[in-house]
Order: sequence, then structure tokens, then C-alpha cells
Amino acid sequence: MEVKFSSSFLPKYHQLMDVHSFECEKKNPQTKIKAHSFFSKFHPLKKLILPSKQKVMTLNKQPSSKKRIPQGDAKQSSLSTFFKSIDDFICTFIDLPLHPSINPELVLSGNFAPVDELPPTVCEVVEGPLPSCLDGAYIRNGPNPQFIPRGPYHLFDGDGMLHMIKISQGKATFCSRYVKTYKYTVERKMGYPVFPSVFSSFNGLGASMARMWLCVSRVLTGQFNPMANGFGLANTSLALIGGRLFALGESDLPYAIKVPSNGDIITLGRHNFFSDEPIMSMSAHPKIDPNTGEAFALRYHVIPPFLTLFRINSNGKKQPDVPIFSMKNTSLIHDFALTKNYVIFPDTQIVMDLMEITRGRPPVRVDRAKVPRLAIIPRYAEDENELRWIEAPGFNMMHCFNAWEEDDGNKIVMVATNISSVEQALERLDLAELRLEKITICVKSNMFERHPLSTEVLDMGGINPAYVGKKNRYAYVGIVAPSMKLVGVVKVDLSLSKADSPCYNTVASRLYGQSCSGSEAFFVAREPDNPAAEEDDGYLVAYVHDENTQQSMFLVMDAKSPTLEIVSAVKLPGRVPTGFHGLFVKESDINKL
Ligand SMILES: [Fe+2]
Repeated sequence: MEVKFSSSFLPKYHQLMDVHSFECEKKNPQTKIKAHSFFSKFHPLKKLILPSKQKVMTLNKQPSSKKRIPQGDAKQSSLSTFFKSIDDFICTFIDLPLHPSINPELVLSGNFAPVDELPPTVCEVVEGPLPSCLDGAYIRNGPNPQFIPRGPYHLFDGDGMLHMIKISQGKATFCSRYVKTYKYTVERKMGYPVFPSVFSSFNGLGASMARMWLCVSRVLTGQFNPMANGFGLANTSLALIGGRLFALGESDLPYAIKVPSNGDIITLGRHNFFSDEPIMSMSAHPKIDPNTGEAFALRYHVIPPFLTLFRINSNGKKQPDVPIFSMKNTSLIHDFALTKNYVIFPDTQIVMDLMEITRGRPPVRVDRAKVPRLAIIPRYAEDENELRWIEAPGFNMMHCFNAWEEDDGNKIVMVATNISSVEQALERLDLAELRLEKITICVKSNMFERHPLSTEVLDMGGINPAYVGKKNRYAYVGIVAPSMKLVGVVKVDLSLSKADSPCYNTVASRLYGQSCSGSEAFFVAREPDNPAAEEDDGYLVAYVHDENTQQSMFLVMDAKSPTLEIVSAVKLPGRVPTGFHGLFVKESDINKL
């Protein structure tokens, strides 16, 4: 057995390859796996170039030379090989040196390294019993590249993987599955990545032009069809809309997910909410009104209208589009706010500009000359006639935790994280410095005010979901370390803020411990059907991983406790990498999927 590759930074892939190498050897002792191609021999990232799991498995099943290959397939196969060689050539000889945000050795280090899928596996509850209100499933989405990148790779580029703990009567099962997107499926079949990325593919003029040509060539020759099938990763968040569960990423439509009784995760497919209009994408943070069950969402485009607002009714049927023609360019709008009467969305300095590609740069850039704005539009508006823009200097919103109306609707309050160093947001995400702020807007006078709520860098988290769009008191927000990992969670009392001074309102906190980092904490009410229950009567649930012991845990914290005391803990049978957003879905909703 001869395996000519090495990796110095991803122990998981060493383990993975060791297992598969062993399997290959067992089945066919004569098998020789040579990962180094002509290009990879000279590749600056040669330590990263590993044969994929699928490729290794394929080597065990070499087709007989007598086996007939359909001519069309053979042609596609030759084309695929040719295109792959071009791709390798670009990575090896044309790419500019990789800056930290697109250097896979850095981006995928530590607990950002991907894991393999894990089928449903029974877990050990090591502390606790698990509270009965947690009967259901906590699912966390995040990027988990199917293949080790051959060239530039950005944190946002990874294929969506769902990590789910399903709980029933105190027993827990854990499962990790990819969202089987069109991109995932095509690349799984090919055995290597073929879809370009807006964040990492445009690395210098030569590489940008070459990758553009390669992408167009692959589409024209039928290697894949993003116009018909999308190109999204579904790697950002999850949402329960109209009784269906979705994995979302803002470059594509959501993918519907099913959770069978054995605790597995099944991708049902791309879903357009029975839209009467063509729809290609949807933002990853829809806002769901807990009273009406309606979902509000946005989608942005590179051609006018640059932004579209739409609503999905409680039956899961999309309502007519509300195009926002007063958006003058494409702004990356990751999140927005919903109140009783309004939708409020930002127009930030992070814009999409396709001309940047002709300069050899990614199409996403920061427009420092632009003054950020907020739009206020009635939630049931049929067009933008009643939309009002308010200038919001210095406010480049990332996540909105909640918003509500005061003074009979004349004042809007938003609680959101702001990117303090927007210049760093794209190339040095770790220096973006997200801070929690309370925003007040006077609807009549267009007054806009910002009030800081924390000195720490905070982001990711949420509120009691029953309070979406209503005045609430508590937000649970992740403490972001310079490594971009969430090293703890704080409970912020929003009622303590004062307009005349920065007021830091943390009333409870928990650090996960040295070498530990966690996922976004999600609030689950102890008595969700009790209208008299206190807002913070419930639990925060999160995954936490210890990089020293390589053990991941599921933690249940008492949201009322000043230390966010851990009341239950489950030892997980697989590692949960650092990722994005999570969702708890109660058992009765899981059973109806
Ligand atoms: Fe997000």
C-alpha cells in the first residue's frame, strides 16, 4: 500500500484517510493510491491535496477495460478531466498568494476543520436529566467543505452540514448530515469542487478571468446548470416555515429537510414556497411572526430590482413580490427586523459590484463613500410607495435580534449587532468587531440614534422566539473571541439601557472554558404554551467543543440563573465544528414534517 500525500494541519483528515487507506488495503492489497498529479506536485497547497473519500472508494472499483462506456459519458468524462486540469493550473500557477481570509490552512484550522457525516448514534447523558421541554431536535447548520480545497477557500464557501441532537423522553440521538444541495450532489458525482465562489474565486485578474471562463465552459458543456437548479450551499441557518423545516443560505432557495423517527436527517429538495413568480433565492434570516405564523423574507439580486421583499403565509405559500426599486445597487442584506406593523431592513456599505471582477477582485466589496441607510416599510405593503429611507451613519448591521414599536408605533426600537470595522469585514473577518447596539428610530421625524449595549465583541444568538416583533427584555448573545469562535454567552437585559450613556447590560454570563468554544445558544421556553410564563423561564442550548480533549458536548443552561448554570450535558459521539446558526424544533413539529 502506497499513499503519497500528507497533511500537516487537519488531523481529522489523517484519521479519515487512514481508515480508507486501511479499507483499500484490506480489499485490494495491490491498490496504489497516488494523490500527486502533475499539478499537485508543484502546488503551493500540496499538503492539502488529498484524494476525496469518494475517489479512494472508486479506486477499489476500477471499471473493466471491456466495460462499455456510453459515448456521451466518455465525452463528459474527458471534458471533466480537461476542466479539472485547468482548475489545478489556475490554483498552482495563476492565483495570487492567498490572504488570511481565503487561505484554507488558516480558515480550516482547529475546530473549523470539517468532519465526515455521522449516522444517528445514541448519546450518553452525562449530567442532568434532560428537561421534558427539550423533546424535539436542536439542529445547527454550518459550512463543512465536502472536499479539501485545492485553492482559495473562504469560511462562507463550505457545503452546509446539519448537526442534530434529537431528544425524546430524556434519551438523545446525534446525527451529522450534509444538506444534499444541487452543488453538493454535482460535486459528489464529479469527485472534486467545480462551483465558483463569490468570496474566494476572484483572486487576482488572471485567476478571476480564468475561473470565469472555466465556469462558463462547464455550464455551456452541461457539467452543471446553476440557472435551473441553483448554486447555493444551504450552510447558514434553519427555519420552520408553514410546517416545513428548511436549511437556508442566502444565495439560493431553502432546502426542505425531513427528520425520520430514527433521528436521521433527509434532504427533500429545493423549495420555492409554491411561488407563482420565478424565485431563485431567499435570505437566510426570515422573520416568523409567532402569532400569525407568517414568514417575511428578502432576496437581493445583481440586476434591478436589487432587492425584493416577500411574505410566506402560514400555509407556506409565497405571496406576491414587493420589489424595492429605490435600492440603487446590490447590498448584501444578511438580516432585517420585523415589528407589529413594519419591516425594517438595512442598506449597508457591503455591496455587490460585478465590475470588481474585471479588476481581479471579488464582487463583494466595501463602499466607504456610501452612507448606510435603514428602510421602513409596512409589513403588508404591496409596493414601495410607503417605504421611507432613514440615513444610519456608522450602522452596518449584521444580525438583528429583535425589534418592536413604542409610542403607538411612532418609535421603533431595534436590537442588533453592528460591524464596527466594516473595512475589515471581508478580508479579515476576525477584525470586524461586532458590537451589540440598541437603535431607536422616530418614524415621524426620521430621527436615528445608536446606543451601545456592550463593550465586548458579541454576535450570534437570539431571544425567546415567542417575542419576535414584540418588546422584550432579554437577548442571549455569543462572546466572540479574536479567533472568531464563540467562547461564551451573555444574557443582556435590554431594559437597563439608558439613552445618555453607554450602558453595558450583561446580567448573566458563562464562559465555556479554556480551549472550548460553542455554537450559537438557542432559547427554549420551559412552558411554551403558558402565556403567564416569564420571558426568561427556559433553557439555553448549545454545542460546545473542547479542542484539548477533542470532545463535543450538548449543554443545557438555565436561562434564569446568573451563571447560566449547566443543568444537563450530553456527550456527543462526533465533533461539531464551529459553524453558524441553530434552531430548536419541538417534537410535535418534527413529527409533522
Ligand atoms: Fe447570520
